[in-house]
Amino acid sequence: MKKLLTLLLVFTMVLSLAACGSTQPAGGGDGEDLPKIGVTIYKFDDNFMSFVRRSIEKNADGKAELILNDSQNNQANQNDQVDMMISKGVKALAINLVDPQAAPTIISKAKKADIPIVFFNKEPSEGALDSYDKSWYVGTASKEAGIIQGKMIVDTWNANSKWDKNGDGKIQYVLLKGEPGHPDAEARTKYAVEEIKNSGIGVEELELQTGMWDSVKGKELMDAWLAKHGDAIEYVIANNDAMALGAINSLKTEGYYSGDKFMPVVGVDAIPDALTEIEKGVLVGSVLNDAANQGKASLDLALNVAEGKDVLDGTNWNLDDKKAVRVPYLAITKENIQVAKDSYK
Ligand code: BGC
Ligand code: CA
Repeated sequence: MKKLLTLLLVFTMVLSLAACGSTQPAGGGDGEDLPKIGVTIYKFDDNFMSFVRRSIEKNADGKAELILNDSQNNQANQNDQVDMMISKGVKALAINLVDPQAAPTIISKAKKADIPIVFFNKEPSEGALDSYDKSWYVGTASKEAGIIQGKMIVDTWNANSKWDKNGDGKIQYVLLKGEPGHPDAEARTKYAVEEIKNSGIGVEELELQTGMWDSVKGKELMDAWLAKHGDAIEYVIANNDAMALGAINSLKTEGYYSGDKFMPVVGVDAIPDALTEIEKGVLVGSVLNDAANQGKASLDLALNVAEGKDVLDGTNWNLDDKKAVRVPYLAITKENIQVAKDSYK
């Protein structure tokens, strides 16, 4: 019993430490002479963001002392974490917003303390970034992923006449959308479908709902859609791989991917679990969302401004007219899968 209590106590301490944000002196030393950078991730429990986080940590090694926070998908938490980090004397903030609309709140805190901010992954509005000369963004051109995914759907559809199961020449699709209001989710949804239409292929949307970037939700939605539409579904379009993998789980339970029962699914991110399914010929393809370079760019910029240097000093990154570094997306299929694998090395 006593042992159990001690264990519980230790567990609670670890948990509360994690909630407060852990200070991680990167590199060998005690981190005293390295610039402190305050980082938030909207939630650690996001597959893709865990790779961005890993890259930030790796690139900070020996260069910066990170204060790393899990905002647990709660903007109020994140606001408190930013206050805490400012009071701890961080020289720069690297912020993955919970709510893309919350940028002005974070900016007003940083502005008061005269601390520069690099936002990443969830793009603040142009107006928000314009309101503070010491704020920047690192991410992607959101619509690019939609266009690439749309092209992949067109190419694979044209190469597989059997996929038009009802033979009407149109794609009956279901779409798993990411978080509503997230620039990536909105643009991917719009441009993937637009790209198909632009190619001259007709589309019919059977279902479109948000799976909040989440694999479990993706599976639940696919379960319901399969129960309702069954084989009338001809294509599954997912805004990210986590939801695509959830849908694939659901499809496997219904007997797909064995014998000649097949359902095309496409995702975005090209995370390692998705690459495995591409290699098996289950997932049609994905779009590499380059976590390694987005993490590197976020850290590079934050470190520069923390040290009072020009934001791009000594880097190869470029800023566009919206003060953003945009890391390119890349189509990933079986043929070039190694490119995606290499990006995780
Ligand atoms: C990724 C998603 C991720 C989201 C988090 C997107 O760019 O594709 O997988 O959940 O960012 O904000
Ligand atoms: Ca059809």
